[in-house]
Amino acid sequence: MSKCLIAPSILSANFARLGEEVDNVLKAGADWVHFDVMDNHYVPNLTIGPLVCEALRKHGVTAPIDVHLMVKPVDRIVPDFVKAGASLISFHPEASEHVHRTIQLIKAQGCKAGLVFNPATPLTHLEHVLDELDLVLIMSVNPGFGGQSFIPSALDKLRAVRRMIDASGRDIRLEIDGGVKADNIAQIAAAGADTFVAGSAIFNAPDYADVIRRMRAAVAT
Ligand code: DX5
Ligand code: ZN
Repeated sequence: MSKCLIAPSILSANFARLGEEVDNVLKAGADWVHFDVMDNHYVPNLTIGPLVCEALRKHGVTAPIDVHLMVKPVDRIVPDFVKAGASLISFHPEASEHVHRTIQLIKAQGCKAGLVFNPATPLTHLEHVLDELDLVLIMSVNPGFGGQSFIPSALDKLRAVRRMIDASGRDIRLEIDGGVKADNIAQIAAAGADTFVAGSAIFNAPDYADVIRRMRAAVAT
């Protein structure tokens, strides 16, 4: 399996000094910046858009920006995020009329594409589009808010997707998002995840480097 990546969700960062927060979490050892986009329509919360992504790039952030779109409809906003410097763009199948077309749209603009599965969303879409994807994101909370508890049924889903990815022989990352902490990350990794989003566990801690170090150590064992 590929190297484990830690992707702090800036949803739990201090937005009043976001550039500094992102610099600090990257200095603390994070691999990616997880960027949660909520539209108060597909999910009951409202966050940040392409202007903030662009501002982070202008600020000097060079790490991959992993954009998680909780937005409906999806297609209209994709080109703006590509222009703003997104590295990966993931979306929920429920939020797109034509999932295959949205994946192609993301990739045609030079970005990597991911598909996201809510706790109650079946994996059936994957049968048809897995080969087109760079990433599968399993939600272990219902999307909309940071700081929720990990839903254990996500572990079975991870195992199922891990089998599909391995059988495909393709280089597809398996990401988990929601309620990931230093004390449950080992079992999440054992179920097959290789990319870990963590918001409150990192940004609510006094020492980001210490949490990231403990997460990596737990995954390595
Ligand atoms: C929830 C978001 C998550 C969230 C994770 O809709 O997609 O990325 O910020 O936050 P924690 O790690 O606090 O569950
Ligand atoms: Zn997210």
